[in-house]
Amino acid sequence: MSSPLAAKRIVLGVTGSIAAYKVADWVRSLKRDGATVTVIMSKGGARFVTPLTFAALSGNHVHDDMFSMSMAEQIPHIELAKQCDLLLVAPASADAIARLAQGLADDLLSTVALATEAPIMLCPAMNSKMFMHPATQTNLARLAEFGYRIIKPDVGAMACGDDGPGRLPEWHVARHAILSIFARQDLTGRSVLVTAGPTWEPLDPVRFLSNRSSGKMGYAVAAAASQRGASVTLISGPTTLHAPPGVNTIQITTAQEMYDETISRAEGIDVVVKAAAVSDFRPDTQADQKLKKATAKAGTLTLHANPDILQTLGQRKGKCHYPLLVGFAAESEDHLNEGRRKLREKNLDLMVVNDITGVDCGFGVDTNRVTLLDYNDATEELPLLSKEETAHRIWDRVARLLDSQ
Ligand code: CTP
Repeated sequence: MSSPLAAKRIVLGVTGSIAAYKVADWVRSLKRDGATVTVIMSKGGARFVTPLTFAALSGNHVHDDMFSMSMAEQIPHIELAKQCDLLLVAPASADAIARLAQGLADDLLSTVALATEAPIMLCPAMNSKMFMHPATQTNLARLAEFGYRIIKPDVGAMACGDDGPGRLPEWHVARHAILSIFARQDLTGRSVLVTAGPTWEPLDPVRFLSNRSSGKMGYAVAAAASQRGASVTLISGPTTLHAPPGVNTIQITTAQEMYDETISRAEGIDVVVKAAAVSDFRPDTQADQKLKKATAKAGTLTLHANPDILQTLGQRKGKCHYPLLVGFAAESEDHLNEGRRKLREKNLDLMVVNDITGVDCGFGVDTNRVTLLDYNDATEELPLLSKEETAHRIWDRVARLLDSQ
């Protein structure tokens, strides 16, 4: 499965911070994504983790000397600066940040930073007092003015025992920021609302009715929209997934809660994507105490219909600035006809239909195979793709629909 980072050339600057050991694992993740990683280590960086570790993980020579004779004829800093789609400085120590902000050019990393035309992303990681010091903050503000992308450090317990901002962010946060750098920015200025995951319909304090949705497809849709520049709200049922960085994520439990949150936020939004697997029914009554088998009546469960969120949005379309509507239909048979029926009945602009009977598409897995249907009856069958790629292909289509409005 191809990733948006496939074949990207990442030059990784590792500077003197204890978080260097965590970045060693980022190299593996970047490689898994198909990127080529070339590491430059500052003198401080090489004190924390040896160049050998990064050479073994990246599969490439590690550069630490501006005047290296091994590639002297190629002028190392110019060659590295040219062969670079992204210069990622992680961890970025207070010293490295200060040097970059001053435009110094007395080591390999600082000269590559000056010479490259590629975007530069910094992941500051240091003691929280060093991070909060006005000198560091001023340097970061200056680098932001130069166009550097700066990833906010995490807040929490540090290796030195202090607590506060300065921890290296988790890989999924850094990866999201990297993907945003490479993504087409065709949703800039657009507001998007995505629903994802299952809903839980409680029966008693212990049990609920639900479905097998993991939320992976909806979360991928929300993350992809944010990477493409949209302002994104995600209304999510219970899942085990990380909220996508930069996305306003609202956790709900029941279909009624999802209805309330979605309907109250939909007006003024440009696109609503309903990837959630909403429970159509809820138990008629919810017991305050756990139902006991000795007293509960076996065999009958009375159900009450939940409101259809997408249908409600479809009925209101056209009354004011109402969003473009995208539905999902997970079907086990006759999927295209079912998708067309729902597209018409719910008054949608686009329906994403997936056949959930395959082992590599549908619930819980990282891949999907979907067909896009629009209101003009145009059908676009997508191949088996990662859910991340599927999400981008959906946005390619939605961006075209938005442009033609
Ligand atoms: N949907 C919704 N509110 C509901 C049920 C479904 O907004 N109460 C949305 C889903 O999020 C999805 C689309 O409608 O985008 C289709 O959902 P699906 O469960 O496939 O279809 P249903 O409308 O429930 O129809 P059926 O039970 O006939 O399959």
